[in-house]
Amino acid sequence: MENKQINFFKTKDINTVLKPFKKGTVVNIDNLEVREKQKELKLGLHGWYAICPSTELKKNKIHYFSLFDEPLLLFRDKNNNVRCIKNICPHRGSSFYGGSISNGELTCPYHGARFSSQGNCQNIDRITCSHIVDNNYDNYAKRIHLSQFKVVERESYIFIYFTDKSETDLNKFNDDSLISNYDLTANGFSVKDSVSEEVLVDFKCDWSRIIENHLDILHIFWVHGDTIPDKDVNKNVLVSFNQKININPNYIESIYFYKNNPTKEFIRIKYIPPGRILIYKGDPAASRYVQVLDHIPLGDNKARVIVRHYRKFLKNKFLNNLILFKEIQKKIFYKIFDEDYMILKTQTYNQKLGLIKNDEIKLLGEDRIINYFWNWYKKSEEKDNPWKHINKNKELNVYDEIILKYPPEIKKLEVINNINIIRKTFIRYAAPLVFLLLII
Ligand code: FES
Ligand SMILES: [Fe+2]
Repeated sequence: MENKQINFFKTKDINTVLKPFKKGTVVNIDNLEVREKQKELKLGLHGWYAICPSTELKKNKIHYFSLFDEPLLLFRDKNNNVRCIKNICPHRGSSFYGGSISNGELTCPYHGARFSSQGNCQNIDRITCSHIVDNNYDNYAKRIHLSQFKVVERESYIFIYFTDKSETDLNKFNDDSLISNYDLTANGFSVKDSVSEEVLVDFKCDWSRIIENHLDILHIFWVHGDTIPDKDVNKNVLVSFNQKININPNYIESIYFYKNNPTKEFIRIKYIPPGRILIYKGDPAASRYVQVLDHIPLGDNKARVIVRHYRKFLKNKFLNNLILFKEIQKKIFYKIFDEDYMILKTQTYNQKLGLIKNDEIKLLGEDRIINYFWNWYKKSEEKDNPWKHINKNKELNVYDEIILKYPPEIKKLEVINNINIIRKTFIRYAAPLVFLLLII
């Protein structure tokens, strides 16, 4: 895929990438400190992607999704192991959409072929079309396999290792990217004493533009200033920061310290390629919350984000239920993503039509991490060429209706959440009051 927006970043190495830019007008970030001899971020768009929270994949249910426009699905086998397979039946190539899972076996809706899974790291290898009598049937069954990708479940996420080649035998996979790099515990935050809320959100816009948005500190003040409950996050409040960037093969992070209190961290944004961003409020070890953003490149102009918020405050379940914390938090998540949505959609349009011209774009000093990201992305795209299945034919977007199911693209869950807030508020507060009035 040609990516017009990155052509203007001609930078060759990190020293050039990080050369000083003009200062911004809203927030002053200077004193950039780059550690000597740090290494470049490892290149590549193949690797581990968090696809959905573990709780999202229910027993006997199929989770349909795609990566770089390739249709895939997840289900749980009878040992509760998650399987990730190409959503293409090896009999005659139909999708499994409309099929079912029963007793951990996947049935194709077209001719009823049924595939079993024998457990972790073994093939999904048995096909049974019960109405067909064929002397060679056993031989046929031995020759047919589902194509699959490696799956692990960690910290209540389902990750798959995406490469350009699915396998019939999982033992053939030789991934060179450590899954433990994505663990919160490996990234300085102990999840043990925390609780969390999460939502999934779908966007009809470019995956890399969403990552850019989440690496961008400046827009937080402008776009989300009225929504994020932090007194320093407001476009009318000027706060100055010093920035420090750390880079190594596994991640790049940008740390913002208060200028008037140089040891105090305001925010730390950490990008662990290809799809994860961690946002810490303060130093990770002392942080009272961390936001985990997983970016899923469903396809061209189509992406999903899983946002999970771990927190170490307000952990009392009863109090949480009483004040409807979960629902209110979800409402805030939806609002924040709504605030970004039109910006991201129009930016994607401008990008895809080649309207963002190199010589018309001037970056701010605060955009250093974004500049670094685009350079990395361009090289990673060249290395792995993940967009080779890209669907350019709009008429053929048949998977959209199967795959896109979350706000802001699909409003249903947002509406349900709002109804829940009203209903539960009434039950908790208004109903006892009405009851009391009736007695009086
Ligand atoms: S295409 Fe799946 S059973 Fe025939
Ligand atoms: Fe945003």
